[in-house]
Amino acid sequence: MNQPNNAGQYAPATQRNREPILEVLLEVLPPTGTVLEVSSGTGEHAVFFAPRLHPRKWIPSDPNPVARASISAWREHCPTDNLYPPIALDARDPVWEVEQNELPKQLHDLDLKLHPIAAIVNINMIHIAPESAYLGLMAGAKRILPPGGILYLYGPFKQRGKHTAESNVAFDQSLRAQNPEWGVRDLDDVVAVAQAHNLSLVRTYTMPANNLSVIFQA
Ligand SMILES: C[S@@+](CC[C@H](N)C(=O)[O-])C[C@H]1O[C@@H](n2cnc3c(N)ncnc32)[C@H](O)[C@@H]1O
Repeated sequence: MNQPNNAGQYAPATQRNREPILEVLLEVLPPTGTVLEVSSGTGEHAVFFAPRLHPRKWIPSDPNPVARASISAWREHCPTDNLYPPIALDARDPVWEVEQNELPKQLHDLDLKLHPIAAIVNINMIHIAPESAYLGLMAGAKRILPPGGILYLYGPFKQRGKHTAESNVAFDQSLRAQNPEWGVRDLDDVVAVAQAHNLSLVRTYTMPANNLSVIFQA
């Protein structure tokens, strides 16, 4: 890909993790419908995944206006008919814009009755945000996903209270130093919260660089 305009940001990890994530998404996503990406960041994942996951529709989102400008820049740079403009979505909000009768203007040509949200994808957010973000994410998934709908999480996780790699110990420490409310989450805690929101753990995939893909189903 050439350069997007100046608003387009780069997160080098997306280049490394996008292919392995795509492989899992192709396996676990429902074949049709709309995918809502929560915390799209730069938008590099969105422009990579959307054309490869046709005919599904892809809605990117982020609460940060700088991130939304970056997503828009990448979208203009790599136009794909099934990729919508980014919406403002903070996972902690008690109601997300996509739940309202009046959709945000970016989504006016998307018929969510014809192409309902069948999956929510969330990559590298829950450890780089306060716990309230993933609690909100689970609550939103419970409200929005139809039976059989998929919640996909990607990131580093502790398992049974323990880090799975030395590099994750250091990463966790650096996160907590930046913000005491951030930190690598324990998979058991995340699964317990998910279950409390009627989301069942389907399976986990071991991913490169000591990350996991975690698949929940409504
Ligand atoms: C490390 S970045 C990951 C971005 C992208 N998914 C990626 O893998 O490159 C974390 C993102 O989470 C977003 N974020 C933080 N708190 C959030 C919240 N409460 N709801 C939704 N997104 C949030 C940030 O704005 C940021 O874009």
